[in-house]
Amino acid sequence: MRKPFVAGNWKMNKTVEQASLLVADLLPGLQAVNKIDRVLCPPFPALMVLSQMTAGTEIGLGAQNMHWEESGAFTGEVAPAMVKEFCAYVILGHSERRAYFAETDQTVNKKVKAAFAHGLTPIVCVGETLEENEAGKTAEIVRREVLEGLKDLDPADAVKLVVAYEPIWAIGTGKAASAEQAEEIIAKIVRGSLAESLSSAVADQIRILYGGSVKGSNAAEFFSMPNIDGALVGGASLKADDFTKICQAAQDTIA
Ligand code: 13P
Repeated sequence: MRKPFVAGNWKMNKTVEQASLLVADLLPGLQAVNKIDRVLCPPFPALMVLSQMTAGTEIGLGAQNMHWEESGAFTGEVAPAMVKEFCAYVILGHSERRAYFAETDQTVNKKVKAAFAHGLTPIVCVGETLEENEAGKTAEIVRREVLEGLKDLDPADAVKLVVAYEPIWAIGTGKAASAEQAEEIIAKIVRGSLAESLSSAVADQIRILYGGSVKGSNAAEFFSMPNIDGALVGGASLKADDFTKICQAAQDTIA
């Protein structure tokens, strides 16, 4: 049985002060949905304060990126051990990182291995662009991202992975994939490629999320699908009531 998982990717939003206010609003609702894993991924500067605010709760924290090296001359980057001081999770390979910051399957793979080496759980994002989708290349792209980005993992680590299928055309557009479309890609391509590179026994234990315009009003449809184990939420994770509603839907539908 895969435990439902809902993470909020705040992207480049909220100062430390604004982040504290949002978490104060979120805490009561999130503490109540205790049958699922719920994770907040604020920008780096807010992690320290949020780790204090969430101490003693089961609410997890995640970073939105990190470097794979231990330390050194990498101006502007954050090392795995620095993330680990505050977080149990790290989002890797988000499509915005791939598009604007030149991340590749190869750098994602290095980061995933570094995350496991430091006891962090990676939330690895995969997904196709609108052009790739319209050209019928979804399966090819998503399979490549899974096989290359998650190459050569120890199965004992791989079972802890969280993978998010986020079709890029559905991110921030208000145009979510249909639950059936998402289920089909997640079951056949994401879980299928994980089974191909690891084993079906391992693939069956990996939690796979859908991401892209998930809201309180559409979350339950996704969660009712057998292969969708939760959501990676962008815009709606910045609103306490909407994010809590999504977590509640995961608990009611899957848990
Ligand atoms: P939206 O929920 O704003 O579409 O963003 C999805 C996303 O990119 C989460 O990582």
